[in-house]
Amino acid sequence: MTKIFISCALPYANGPCHLGHLRSTYIPADIYARYNRMAGNDVLMVCATDEHGTPIAVKAEQEGIPPIDVAKRYHDMIAEDIKSCDITLDNFTRTTDDMHTQISQDFFKYLYDEGLIYEQAIEQLYCENCNKFLPDRYVEGICPHCGADARGDHCEMCGRALDPVELEEPRCLTCGHTPVIKQTTQYFFKLSAFQKDLEEYIETNEKLPANVRNYARNWLKDGLTDWIFTRDMDWGIPVPLEGAEGKVLYVWAEAFLGYLSSAAQWSRKSGKAWEEYWDDYVVHFIGKDIIYHHALFWPAMLKGHGCKLPDDIFAGEFLSLEGRKMSTSKNWVVWVADFVKDFDSDLLRYYLTINAPLNKDTDFSWDEFQRRINDELADIIGNFLHRTFTFTKKFFDMKVPEYANPSQADLEFEAEIKALPDTVAACIEDMEFRDGLVEIERVTKLANKYFNDQEPWKAVKEDKQKAANCLYLSNQMCKALAVLLKPYIPRSADKICDILNISNDNSWDDANVFLETGHEISKAKPLFKKIEDEVIEAQKEKLYKNLESQEKEVEEVDHMDLITIDEFAKVEIRIGQIKECEKIKKSNKLLKTQIDIGDKTIQVIAGLGKRYAPEDLIGKKVPVVVNLQPAKLMGEESQGMIMATESAAILTPDDCEIGELLM
Ligand code: MF3
Ligand code: ZN
Repeated sequence: MTKIFISCALPYANGPCHLGHLRSTYIPADIYARYNRMAGNDVLMVCATDEHGTPIAVKAEQEGIPPIDVAKRYHDMIAEDIKSCDITLDNFTRTTDDMHTQISQDFFKYLYDEGLIYEQAIEQLYCENCNKFLPDRYVEGICPHCGADARGDHCEMCGRALDPVELEEPRCLTCGHTPVIKQTTQYFFKLSAFQKDLEEYIETNEKLPANVRNYARNWLKDGLTDWIFTRDMDWGIPVPLEGAEGKVLYVWAEAFLGYLSSAAQWSRKSGKAWEEYWDDYVVHFIGKDIIYHHALFWPAMLKGHGCKLPDDIFAGEFLSLEGRKMSTSKNWVVWVADFVKDFDSDLLRYYLTINAPLNKDTDFSWDEFQRRINDELADIIGNFLHRTFTFTKKFFDMKVPEYANPSQADLEFEAEIKALPDTVAACIEDMEFRDGLVEIERVTKLANKYFNDQEPWKAVKEDKQKAANCLYLSNQMCKALAVLLKPYIPRSADKICDILNISNDNSWDDANVFLETGHEISKAKPLFKKIEDEVIEAQKEKLYKNLESQEKEVEEVDHMDLITIDEFAKVEIRIGQIKECEKIKKSNKLLKTQIDIGDKTIQVIAGLGKRYAPEDLIGKKVPVVVNLQPAKLMGEESQGMIMATESAAILTPDDCEIGELLM
């Protein structure tokens, strides 16, 4: 028996759960937890709401209520969302809980005493009207990269992370005044000191999935920089040092401790030691946007504290909605609470698991949801269960018949049933949750075919033993389904148990313990109803209504940004060929290139160095804007611009002639 510590990433307490949270984190974690409990392992699964940080403080300020009230409101909603989807957390706490504060402060103090946290004076924005520093989202301004309106630490338009002091035309979010730059002392965590340890962790831990390893490798390649660990604000956990009054721990410096404080709270209630679980086996379930934090930052903190590092980090990729990026601010989202008002949460668990493996981005579409529920869950699984139960009632007096003189077809089907639990178990243990479900479905399809081939409705008149064998095995298949579907769709699994008249508290091995001849089942109830077109149409309408009102706004904005063809014609773009290319010293991004544009060669300084080595670019043909006013970058003149995407990928028109003009 293994003791397994499972954590789900802590949701911010500034909004309820939507489908994305469930898909990336809670559903996979719950499948894994439920399976392991059934397989005889001892599981501790914890989570909490992440209640500090500026978004919550800002929201509270806007509503004119204390931040703790905002946090409480969403904590309660999230707890309800999680419950409504049958996520079996052993404990769900809050980062505003006293125990969390204590553990976080102790942890910080420990790292400080170890010399892993140091003080440094830095410049930050300060509002002289409000008499406060403006960390993160407390300030608005213009993104220096793309010119869009941006919030503090992040530009939603270009997706870049920002340092608030970089913002152009900064404004205090509270009072609108222009802040000044002021010195303040903050505490930094020496992440850079863990470069070697983390490289080893990432390279030698075989469990880590490829997406986690690859992201982490990329960051490690660039070299880790130290992390600022504190903020000047009053919403948060006070820095436990003398002389640090008015400073709180940065939310990411304490949120992770929620895993431990939630577990510690569970220990206090249960009297069992959570440490035994941590020391045995730890798996973190997260969304891919926080791989950096979990694969590098958190292991470094743990290492600094002398703790064991996580054994596995499982990162679900993103979920889009009807082909578009989900956005809570644009209301392009399906909230869990709305979903479960109209549908059984098992349907969501089913769809979000079967739709794509977790290491792939995927989409939630209402049509696809309807199709999968109707064609798969209802037509394959539901149909098999239903015909087995109704036949057992009709021809065998609701009793599992006798199995004798099995035919070749019977033996083959029996072997499939017997092999299924191990196959599904192996998938789940490998975190291939979708594969396990696909396998269950594959065998259920076989089961349907077997049932059709045996024609028990005819056999019952001509060869009663043939019909009996068919219904005997079909009932065993139903029993296997009742057990094996439990981690995936627990409510439906329990309903199958009810009909089969067996306990719903099964171990994984029970999937292969056959019902005895003569065992009496109960009356069948339909398990999966088909979803009607009108129901789906209504959902789509509700969703698109939000979008339409948004799009009107976007159109108006777009309109203002339109340029005329004459304006565009002023831009002269030609195909050039890169003849020389070298790195600019002291910059890890800029490359100095000499480009042949037909009638002459120009020098262009391009920010492509993160993606390409100079030798990769020599000889490449690229579109170049050739009539830009020259500019100096790092002391070097740039006479044009290579056209590349936001992520610094060049466009390569290899078939064009040098000097050719783009129209
Ligand atoms: N609240 C964070 C987010 O939603 C996740 C915190 S996970 C933790 O991105 F591990 F740090 F707690
Ligand atoms: Zn202000």
